[in-house]
Amino acid sequence: METSRRAFLKSAAVAGAALGIGNEQSQAGARPPSKHGKAPKKLKILILGGTGFLGPATVETALGRGHTMTLFNRGKTNPQLFPDVERLKGDRNTGDIAALEGREWDAVIDTTAYVPAHVEATAAMLADKVRQYVLVSSVSVYADSSKPYANENAPVTELTDETVATMKTIRESIAHYGGMKARCERAAEKALPLRTTNIRPGLIVGPRDRSDRFTYWPVRIARGGEVLAPGDGSDPVQYIDVRDLGEWIIHCVENRITGVFNAISPAGRFNMAEMLYGIKGAFTTDARFTWVDAAFLETQNLTAWKEMPVWIPATGENAGFHLMSTERAVAAGLRFRPLAVTARDTVAWHDESRAPDYEFGVRAGLSRAREAEVLKSWHERKAVKPNGDATEEVAE
Ligand SMILES: NC(=O)c1ccc[n+]([C@@H]2O[C@H](COP(=O)([O-])OP(=O)(O)OC[C@H]3O[C@@H](n4cnc5c(N)ncnc54)[C@H](OP(=O)(O)O)[C@@H]3O)[C@@H](O)[C@H]2O)c1
Repeated sequence: METSRRAFLKSAAVAGAALGIGNEQSQAGARPPSKHGKAPKKLKILILGGTGFLGPATVETALGRGHTMTLFNRGKTNPQLFPDVERLKGDRNTGDIAALEGREWDAVIDTTAYVPAHVEATAAMLADKVRQYVLVSSVSVYADSSKPYANENAPVTELTDETVATMKTIRESIAHYGGMKARCERAAEKALPLRTTNIRPGLIVGPRDRSDRFTYWPVRIARGGEVLAPGDGSDPVQYIDVRDLGEWIIHCVENRITGVFNAISPAGRFNMAEMLYGIKGAFTTDARFTWVDAAFLETQNLTAWKEMPVWIPATGENAGFHLMSTERAVAAGLRFRPLAVTARDTVAWHDESRAPDYEFGVRAGLSRAREAEVLKSWHERKAVKPNGDATEEVAE
């Protein structure tokens, strides 16, 4: 590893920046109301979903603000949550949304919008019964991730196969995620023109995230020792804490904010080194990073995003993947808690809700054994001449 880069990665400035020192939370002004303050006007809010990951964070904020919530879902996921909140039962996959009929709310928040036909049905039924439709979409709608700093006007994926567009179940739709989400956005906007908020989050992280796509890093770093880290630390990363997103969704409802918004940390705030050192700063840990280049990781069958979560090398068609513009959402009140808080709370949730011997690697990240194996290979690797012959060991 080049000496100057090593010095850079170890610098306190990097860790400080990543810890969120001087970030937007410290600015005076319009942080969206947290769940701890009461809203000036109590609202009736329907959430289509509400019991998985983003749903609970949103519901908790709304209840904390004094709003009245109604949850609509099948009653399968975490049915024990929110026992004092009204629950309506139905199934969007079978078109059973009768429980919504004849009811009125100030706003609906749709966290389960994957299938255009589902959104058409709920939006048609609710168009005259709510004043605002908040649809949780995704940055996956974008057709092209190669351009850094793209904003909400960038072209979205267009479905060309109408048989896909008419799919009826969430399970079927997932293979066409981005294009289907874009159609869902359009369906809501068509039924409630100028009364729709299409929110496009990037990677959502924090407590209750079962995907391990971020959780791997704080848990791994908190455990300490030599940590396999991808690339050279300079690849940009973006994410959003689920609670920041939940709070901002309720802020959009309370303030009738409509339009299309990317919802993720500001482009350029973190690169991989800033994120990992920032996480390290949140714990008492002897973790030390060994940065391993993409070519070597490939030889070990380790892929970006899956085994090395969050990380996407910022090259070629992914040059803009972790550099989406979020200026519009920030201007509309989206704020970000410090990375250290997200990291600590994520580990606390992981420790409380999972077995002590929980191994990463099934959903995302690496098992300890696999990581040790790759690190060993890295340290023992031979430099390879252009003709493919091994030479002496590589000096680090
Ligand atoms: N995670 C990320 O990094 C990420 C990134 C970008 C965008 N997003 C978007 O963010 C949203 C997050 O979703 P979430 O899962 O956290 O939301 P959630 O509202 O917390 O959980 C999903 C809810 O949908 C309900 N549900 C599932 N299938 C249903 C059906 N057929 N009919 C009625 N209700 C149904 C589930 O309850 P039952 O099972 O009991 O029905 C559950 O309450 C999604 O729209 C996703 O596309 C996520």
